[in-house]
Amino acid sequence: METIKAIMTRRSIRTWTNEPVTDAERKTIFEAAMNAPSAADVRPWHFVAMDDPAVINQFTELGGTEMLAESTFMVLVCGDESKEIYPGFWPQDCSCAAQNMQLAAHDIGIGCVWIAIYPIEERVAICRKILDIPQSITPFALLAMGVPNEVLPPEGRYDATRLHQNKW
Ligand SMILES: Cc1cc2nc3c(=O)[nH]c(=O)nc-3n(C[C@H](O)[C@H](O)[C@H](O)COP(=O)(O)O)c2cc1C
Repeated sequence: METIKAIMTRRSIRTWTNEPVTDAERKTIFEAAMNAPSAADVRPWHFVAMDDPAVINQFTELGGTEMLAESTFMVLVCGDESKEIYPGFWPQDCSCAAQNMQLAAHDIGIGCVWIAIYPIEERVAICRKILDIPQSITPFALLAMGVPNEVLPPEGRYDATRLHQNKW
């Protein structure tokens, strides 16, 4: 799939079949994640991969996230501020990695939705508790994936009023 086509057709998928995400598919998704740009190339990220239903089910505790019980593969993207050279950029770096993962997943036919974690303190704390994450590491975004059980049409969201030429 061409990059532009992947960008323009990706949608958030929130229902999945019970087929597993294969090891090769997981590797592709993590390679895409870790190939993301980051400030000063410090890559201030860690990824917690989950495929144990007993672990995945606990994330329904976040609230409004019952659909996660259907996900066969979830990844918690976490920030590691200790790796930063220029403090404060880690959320942008982790966002780049997370978006690369969403697009890579879509490219290989895996459906993905980004579940907000940071900066919702309660959700950050729930993730820390479930996965035993140290205080120095910040849970940032939860990506729930699986083989899609829905097809959503592309949406054209181009809005010329948001584009400013040479000055505001
Ligand atoms: C930072 C961020 C946080 C999000 N949090 C949630 C969430 O907690 N729950 C959810 O169902 N979708 C969440 N989404 C997905 C958005 O709802 C979705 O991207 C948006 O509605 C546009 O739809 P699309 O992804 O299908 O294009 C999040 C997306 C982003 C980028």
